Amino acid sequence: MSKLRLGILASGRGSNLQSILDQITAGRINAEVAVVISDKKEAFALERARMAGLPAGHFNYRDFPSKDAYESSIVDRLKQHGVELVCLAGYMRIVGKVLLAAFPGRVVNIHPALLPSFPGLHGQEQAWAYGVKFSGCTVHFVDEGMDTGPIILQAVVPVYDEDTADELSARILEQEHKIYPEAIRLYAEGRLKVEGRKVYVNKNK
Ligand code: GRF
Repeated sequence: MSKLRLGILASGRGSNLQSILDQITAGRINAEVAVVISDKKEAFALERARMAGLPAGHFNYRDFPSKDAYESSIVDRLKQHGVELVCLAGYMRIVGKVLLAAFPGRVVNIHPALLPSFPGLHGQEQAWAYGVKFSGCTVHFVDEGMDTGPIILQAVVPVYDEDTADELSARILEQEHKIYPEAIRLYAEGRLKVEGRKVYVNKNK
């Protein structure tokens, strides 16, 4: 079976990118990272891509006349590399209609909270400040809303009284590094079926 070609979009340190690369290297996902793209020149994710010998591209939002133009240019690059699934991994921009139209049902994201609670920025801090007893992370398909698409996988972590927001973030991140590669593995094996809001995982494959 041919390998699923992934395009990773990241804005920062790229630890989720790394977890995906590590699982691919370990032979657990039938996929390959075709290209890594960042809107931030200094993103460590780009450095990780280069260290892994992968194509890496920086697209500065300000170099383009509009969001559509910016996204068109990213879409061109993703297509040049034959990308089949776009994975947002700490990508700090809201994906617009151009990217979504180019990859319908083929954009996924990891969010550091149990959606639909605490969407948007800093999901971990929001949960911590709210005082919930459990939080976690969510891998979901991306739609035009803010962290609103159909949920693929979630992982739950406890929130302890003595936690700082940073400690909670670290506990959540550990789970992100497990469920994001796992969701991509399921997608690559053709085991996800989306019906409306629901994503069904075929366990018998
Ligand atoms: C993660 O917490 C992810 O859930 C959120 O942004 C952070 C990115 O971390 N969307 P990294 O760049 O993958 O290390």
